Amino acid sequence: MCGIVGYVGQHQALPILIKGLKRLEYRGYDSAGIAIQNGRGLQYAKSRGKISALETSINNQKLVGTTGIAHTRWATHGEPTTVNAHPHLDCNHTIALVHNGIIENYRALRSELTAKGHHFVSETDTEILAHLVEEFHGNGTDLCEAVRLALSQVKGTYGIVVASAKEPGTLVAARQGSPLVVGLGKNEFFLASDCAPIVPHTKEVTYLDDGEIVKITEEKITYKTIDDRVIDKAVEKIGFDLDAIEKDGYDHYMLKEIMEQPQTIRDSMRGRLLLEEGTARLGGLAHDLDSLLYARRILITACGTSWHAALIGEYMLEEFVKIPVEVEYASEFRYRDPILDTDSVVIAISQSGETADTLAAVREAKQKRSKVFGICNVVGSTIARETDAGVYLHAGPEIGVASTKAFTSQVTVLALITLLLGRMRSISNARGRRIAQELEELPERVAEALESADQVKAIAEKYHNCRNFLYLGRGYNFPVALEGALKLKEISYIHAEGYPAAEMKHGPIALIDENMPVVVIATQDSTYDKIISNIEEVRARNGRIIAIATKGDKEISKHAQHVIYVPQTLEMLMPVVATIPLQLLAYYIATFRGCDVDQPRNLAKSVTVE
Ligand code: F6R
Repeated sequence: MCGIVGYVGQHQALPILIKGLKRLEYRGYDSAGIAIQNGRGLQYAKSRGKISALETSINNQKLVGTTGIAHTRWATHGEPTTVNAHPHLDCNHTIALVHNGIIENYRALRSELTAKGHHFVSETDTEILAHLVEEFHGNGTDLCEAVRLALSQVKGTYGIVVASAKEPGTLVAARQGSPLVVGLGKNEFFLASDCAPIVPHTKEVTYLDDGEIVKITEEKITYKTIDDRVIDKAVEKIGFDLDAIEKDGYDHYMLKEIMEQPQTIRDSMRGRLLLEEGTARLGGLAHDLDSLLYARRILITACGTSWHAALIGEYMLEEFVKIPVEVEYASEFRYRDPILDTDSVVIAISQSGETADTLAAVREAKQKRSKVFGICNVVGSTIARETDAGVYLHAGPEIGVASTKAFTSQVTVLALITLLLGRMRSISNARGRRIAQELEELPERVAEALESADQVKAIAEKYHNCRNFLYLGRGYNFPVALEGALKLKEISYIHAEGYPAAEMKHGPIALIDENMPVVVIATQDSTYDKIISNIEEVRARNGRIIAIATKGDKEISKHAQHVIYVPQTLEMLMPVVATIPLQLLAYYIATFRGCDVDQPRNLAKSVTVE
């Protein structure tokens, strides 16, 4: 949510910052802005809308200089107008500041600063930061110290980068709750909300932790804490290459990410499956395995798509590991008084590892002294670092705002955890080997499911003007129905609901008429006969059935207008395979409707605000 970039070095900052912003555009695209500092002061440009609009607006301006900051916004306080776009400036336009996060006490600070004579131009919470830094900067207080003093008065979350006309060639950045990465090049430094803008320039990075501040000049970098202790930071290596964040010839990142799932699922399992022993090896859990193995209760917490993966995890763990599992929205968990004891373990699932609600749930669980495990995709992310142990997805950067490959990797990793724990508790070697073998073959099954793309596209063309969709599934496929509906609504803006198929007759059946497409996940599993009855209930009311069925099922075409076949796999793994046509359906419907698939309205990837 909001993307920040900063550059200090010997090259012109403008093209580096614009390219960097484009790589972060998935984090927000309401408005964008840039400030360049040179020996003569600060020059800036802002624009409503996407980064391309910013580029157009600076076409004729000469923003020259080798130090600068830039921002792409997802609005929290104040409409997405040009005046609300970042960077924000102080009264004298000496200080420019970009911010990701929310300043909670901004109203009080704004009144105080207004009383002192500061003049505000925007409706944002961020602008108070520029004025607060202005209060301290000057008269012997350098920018870094001024930022530090200002932040000591602030409540809320921030990742900020600040430039001052009084200190050419210097940037100061700080973090509390919103991620910031520092890229370490040769005589140049980069700052960004994640590694994507940095990786074309250098793979060496440091990750700022909460309460830390960094001062960067062309020659030197100094880290300290907001309470003024000088610290060292470990240099880490970015674990992916530039190609991982390119579109690779696809029209959209989402399509690329859907199509690369056979590979990303393979990557999630690499070195982790032990086929002979019929189990899994998960290095990240090794030291804390006992607390999972002997837990009396597992609570999985997550948001959105990751929450759907968690539901599938619940089914798997209860079936094969026989430990009671509860799944809770992180946003609810953090504000309830959840009952946790030392025998309960918490698993937090997050692609980005930065989702504010999930992070708060992690902190709440730790506060209550529970062991907390993380399942994250982004290496070095806050949740990955704050949990006691965990497993990375290794699915590579997910850039499309709608999560696809992360979901299938989350389910795959949950299956690996289930296999590992299940084998240590009750599953026989033979059963373990069967699961391991099916996992090994899962990438091929997914590749086969992707072959339905042309058929799914034709169905999408037929139904893309519908105003509502219903998705039904049972058992392991119920969360798949939820996920299919979420994908459709977020990128095509069609109202869609997912339901456990049998619940339909308790209400939603009233919605069904000849204009209602009903997507039913009807693969051949333990609930097959029941779901055929549910399909008949829809047909009797003239609903249009799009069935996701198992290859070789001849019966199903008697019940459905359209059948999309997917290959057979174990019931517990079917969500991975059955989700593929639903991702494609959402993608093609959205493209037929002319929607911006990678950057759907009102959304942003990595929801770092509550
Ligand atoms: C939906 C989607 C969101 C995320 C949710 C959690 O396609 O992407 O629902 O799943 O915001 O994000 P993470 O997994 O990063 O915590």
